Amino acid sequence: MTDLRLRDYDNVVFFTGAGMSAESGVPTYRGAGGVWREYDYERCACENAFKSDPEYVWEFHNFRRDLVGKCKPNAGHDLVARAEAALPSVTVITQNIDGLHQLAGSQRVLELHGSLWEVRCDRCGWRDRGRESPLVELECPECGAFKRPNIVWFGDMLFMDVIQASQSALQSCDLLVSIGTSAVVYPAAQLPLIAKQAGATLVEINPEETPLSGAYEHHLRGPATEMLARIADGL
Ligand code: OAD
Repeated sequence: MTDLRLRDYDNVVFFTGAGMSAESGVPTYRGAGGVWREYDYERCACENAFKSDPEYVWEFHNFRRDLVGKCKPNAGHDLVARAEAALPSVTVITQNIDGLHQLAGSQRVLELHGSLWEVRCDRCGWRDRGRESPLVELECPECGAFKRPNIVWFGDMLFMDVIQASQSALQSCDLLVSIGTSAVVYPAAQLPLIAKQAGATLVEINPEETPLSGAYEHHLRGPATEMLARIADGL
């Protein structure tokens, strides 16, 4: 049990990973049924793969668009959105590319790993956002190069503006709630430590221990929806 209540904090950061969307039916990446158990990321989620076989990389991402596009926000996403409406300051920093926080109504969402629903052209800088699935027209309308999913793939740098906004939210929060991340993908995994150094209370929601569990003062071991309801106190 915990006596921790979201309402007791003014400035909250929710730091979310794939486990946040697991109860919506979006597969996690690691563990049983994980995306990277079934697909080789070196063939479908890195820049070299895109350069050598963009059609296959798009086949994988269109499969993901189809699957994720059918999923709806769960009670946990709803609760995070309600917290933003009820508390003075709430930021969602997510590693997820599924867009479910925004669909639930969260306004201030920082997408550390980009979005499945955004495309860009690295030749001419064209960008677009939309939920078309499958994406049929794969060539940039401006210059004819292959469109690229605006996702931070393995080996890519994080987006500088997103990192800076995340750092600033983490430095000023008084509560950090990490939800459903295995904390093995860097640099994202270490971001909660910025909040810790700044004196925030840290809560980890995850059915399992993670390599960073030791940094958290509170551990809620169970599914995101149930554990969030426990600290929501009627939000
Ligand atoms: P992982 O798949 O690595 O970890 C998912 C975590 O969610 C695990 O620790 C599970 O124990 C936990 N979990 C599972 N079901 C849960 C539930 N119902 N409630 C709460 N937690 C649950 O996913 P991430 O940590 O998000 O990169 O992975 C980080 C990055 O690796 C992803 O952003 C992705 C991937 O490669 C990109 O897409 C670019």
